[in-house]
Amino acid sequence: MNAVVFYSNTGQSEAVAKYLGEALGYTVVDIEGADSGGYEDLVLVFPVHAQNIPRPVRELLKKTRVKNLTAIATYGKMCYGNVLYEIQNEFHMNIVAGAYIPAKHAYIDGDGGLPDLSLLTPIIEKIKAPSEIELPKLYKNPLADLFPKTRSRLGVKLYKNSNCNGCGACAERCHFRAIDSGVTNGRCIRCLRCVKVCPNNALEFKARLPMRLYLSKKKVNETVIYV
Ligand SMILES: Cc1cc2nc3c(=O)[nH]c(=O)nc-3n(C[C@H](O)[C@H](O)[C@H](O)COP(=O)(O)O)c2cc1C
Repeated sequence: MNAVVFYSNTGQSEAVAKYLGEALGYTVVDIEGADSGGYEDLVLVFPVHAQNIPRPVRELLKKTRVKNLTAIATYGKMCYGNVLYEIQNEFHMNIVAGAYIPAKHAYIDGDGGLPDLSLLTPIIEKIKAPSEIELPKLYKNPLADLFPKTRSRLGVKLYKNSNCNGCGACAERCHFRAIDSGVTNGRCIRCLRCVKVCPNNALEFKARLPMRLYLSKKKVNETVIYV
């Protein structure tokens, strides 16, 4: 079986997945509905979170057999760390192509969007004629693993407004069991999935000063492609 599977909380990775799915003629599936049985060609698209592989992506990779993996990480123009190398080395995956794609940062309004995705053409060609590649080890800030959840929670305020009618959609779709009726707990990583899935626009977020200062740093706007 071949598929493009995406993990996406604010729509950036989903848009890349849909583009690739259409170009390849593969089914596009949300990670929630991914088949843990196995894939011949799997194209996995996900965001970089605190320079790390998001937990739902780790969980899928742990339990799924894949013959040819293409791993595409979107990132918010801050730093993409070393996630593709980590996937290849921690999960011993046969990676045939990979990319880091700059995208809108989940915490920045009006941050521009994705680049012209036609630059992914070499990836599409490589998936059609797969062979294993060796990914380089890149720099990852050693502080990236220091309390990432606490840093996000302190950096971003998430709150519900009067539109909340307690429908439970946020709790149902949260990958971390981190929210109930619009109120988050200590498991929340501020991925903003709940903000996107709330049918009543009842969840809002605000970056606090330390996060705003961090986000005002000079941006990286490079697409890196490995084939
Ligand atoms: C919890 C969290 C951590 C993030 N960490 C990083 C990061 O370390 N570097 C970066 O450049 N962008 C970071 N971002 C931005 C996302 O990688 C970026 O917005 C991504 O494209 C969102 O993808 P999605 O819309 O598919 O969820 C982070 C976003 C969130 C919500």
